[in-house]
This record gives sequence, C-alpha cells and structure tokens, in this order.
Amino acid sequence: MAVSVALDVDPGIDDALALILALRSPEIRLALVTTVAGNGPLVMTTRNAVRVLDHLGAAHIPVAAGAAAPLEKPFHGALNYHGPDALGGVDVPERRTHIEARAAHDLLFNFAAAAPGERILVATGPLTNVARAFQCHEEMPSMLRELIIMGGAFGLTPFGKGNQTRYAEFNIWQDPDAAYTVFHSDVPMTIVGLDVTNDPSGAFDATDLARLRTGTSREAKLAVTLVNYAISRHEYCALHDPLALAAALDRSLFEFATGHVEVVTRDDEQRGRTFLHEGAPATSDRCIARVASGVDGPRFKRLFMSRVLEG
Ligand code: RIB
Ligand code: CA
Repeated sequence: MAVSVALDVDPGIDDALALILALRSPEIRLALVTTVAGNGPLVMTTRNAVRVLDHLGAAHIPVAAGAAAPLEKPFHGALNYHGPDALGGVDVPERRTHIEARAAHDLLFNFAAAAPGERILVATGPLTNVARAFQCHEEMPSMLRELIIMGGAFGLTPFGKGNQTRYAEFNIWQDPDAAYTVFHSDVPMTIVGLDVTNDPSGAFDATDLARLRTGTSREAKLAVTLVNYAISRHEYCALHDPLALAAALDRSLFEFATGHVEVVTRDDEQRGRTFLHEGAPATSDRCIARVASGVDGPRFKRLFMSRVLEG
C-alpha cells in the first residue's frame, strides 16, 4: 500500500529532481505539493512546481503557494546556483491556469488530519510553511507519521559543514525561527542534512549524466536538463532533496544518530547553525529526532536511476 506523501518545496533544481523521483516511486502517492520562497521568490518556486508536475502528467496533484518570506527574517534567494528562473532554464511551459486558493499551511494540516498517523510530509525548503501549520494547528505534529526535513549541518561527517555560511545550511539559515518551532514540536522527525547530502558519492557527476541521457521518458529528459545545468556550472549536481525523499523510500540507505536538535535563531554569524544533542532523553513535548549520519550514496544513485530509466 503506497504511503501518502506531501512535499513542501522551493524548486530549485534538486527539488524538481525530488518531484521526479516521487512521481516514479510506487512506494508513495504524492498527494499534495506546497511551495515556499527559498531558492527563488515564491512566485518562481510555485511556477516551477506547477511546470514540473504538469509536464510530467501530474496536473491532478494540487499545488498551493505558501510563505513568500521567512517568519521573521527578510527573504534571501539562491538564484546564483539554480539560474535566473530557479530551474536551470528548462524549456517547460506553464500550462495550469490555477492553483489552490486555500492557504498552504491549512492544506498541510488537512493532509495530515485526513489520516492521522499514516502520512508523511517531506520538507525540502525553508520550514516556514511547516512552522505556520504547527502554529495554527497545534495538534498537527502528532498527526503526522513522520516529517522528513532536508536541512541542517550537524558535523556528523566531514561534509556536515554549512553551505550558506560556514556554520549553516541554506534552508535552516533562511528561516531559523521556523526551524526552532519545528524542532521544538513533538513531530516524529527525520533530518537529512549536509552531513550526508554533500557527500559526493551521492551526487550526480558526468558519468551519471551520460547514463541519464540513455533515458527516453519525459522524466529522464527533464532530469538530464536539470542535472546538466548544475554539472556544467558546479562540477557535480548535489541531490539534497532527492536524498531527503529517499528516506521515505528506503530507510536502509541511511545511518542515523538520535537526540534533540537545536538551532541558532540569532541574526549573527551563527544564524541557522544546528546542533544534535545525541542521546538526549525523550520529553513529553519533544520527539527524539533521527539525524542522518551516513548514506550509501552509490546505492541511492542506483535507486534514482532505476526509477527514472526503467518502466
Ligand atoms: O542546502 C540545500 C537545500 O537548500 C536544498 O533543499 C536546496 O534546494 C535549497 O533549498
Ligand atoms: Ca530545496
């Protein structure tokens, strides 16, 4: 039985690759996509989510636009990496004439409340929408089967260093106040941070791109355009968001450390820095987080390739 999944995204090249992987994975049913400002402004990330879904025959999946800025800090994009349209300039038309009128954070709550304990939310952008959903619907954290977050850098591997600053990962840095709200909830939380997603063994290189080029499906061709854009400018294509989604597909790909997680919300050089207090005891109001401390990168890449190139 496929698990119902909602994706909260800021497409973004790797967010788009996560959408492709979600649509090609039978373990999950992508039921909802919500968008947040992050890699680009909200209008751009929303347009990109709609374009990718519609291009891949998934126009039936509802899209709702969420937060245009962090809870408290000013918005700061990442177009320098993802290109002027935040999607590597892919030539994919915008077909959908409307998106959901209801607020993204309310739709996220409705998603969880429709089947308490059964559904997974995967957040691959700043956590603004998730925090708002938790603030507006205090029962939501305990309704989710799991919240999987792409974010943070915990120093658990040599790759666990910041990419926005020396300390902080982009999603968490963008909205540390939202991250604080989420980290201090009782949601069952799995965090896939730079400790594993910046491991080159789990990123696409030119050899992987050549393999993707053998694909004939729309998914494969779109993945080629996205990966090519990244590799042609950044040597390889990091797969931060597809790796986070993979935690919902095959948890055995990862090793985890557990404990409470903390985040610096001060707007100084430590902003967005994340810490794992490994082995901390469970408390009534906070779940013990699972933080990825290892990944089988080659096996993850084989999984991605098998989903996109076969079938
Ligand atoms: O730090 C990497 C994360 O920030 C990824 O989710 C990327 O898409 C950006 O949102
Ligand atoms: Ca992202």
